[in-house]
Amino acid sequence: MRIVVIGLLCLLGLALTACGNDPEPTPVPEPTVAPTPAETPTPAPPSASLINTGKQLSSIHGCLGCHSVDGRENIGPTWQGLFGKTETLDGIGPVVVDETYLTIAIKSPSEEIVSGFPDAMPSNDLQVDQIDAIIAYIATLK
Ligand code: HEC
Repeated sequence: MRIVVIGLLCLLGLALTACGNDPEPTPVPEPTVAPTPAETPTPAPPSASLINTGKQLSSIHGCLGCHSVDGRENIGPTWQGLFGKTETLDGIGPVVVDETYLTIAIKSPSEEIVSGFPDAMPSNDLQVDQIDAIIAYIATLK
């Protein structure tokens, strides 16, 4: 029994000696300079991207072929200064242009006709969120 213990102690001693002879791993120095934050482009705020979507949709769906955005006369009324102005509709009279009015004007072009303009706007298959985007765009055209 004693021999076994001594043998084990020897083995242990050998192991320890072997370990002790191992070179200490050199510690990796901590970086002293804080890493500079990566230059990631800030994503556009939702409203800005909505406006941009509206602008693109207006172009893709041909709206801008009939509606100017700079006050110029065209087949349809200009979108410049449209949001918030008082528009006169055939058979209805003056209305303040807001989101509700614009939604109807875009969804059902023949439902409300702006006085002085023909019932010439074609219908479209725009989705609600697309109409919202176009309205957001129109609202920026002061
Ligand atoms: C072929 C020409 C034409 C196209 C294309 C057209 N419109 Fe019109 N739009 C008109 C005309 C004309 C009116 C005025 C008569 C009326 O109220 O429907 C009008 C009226 C409007 C009005 C109401 C303006 C006001 O002064 O109250 C809005 C808003 C509008 N259009 C949005 C759109 C959008 C959005 C599109 C694209 C999806 C579009 N239009 C495409 C001709 C057009």
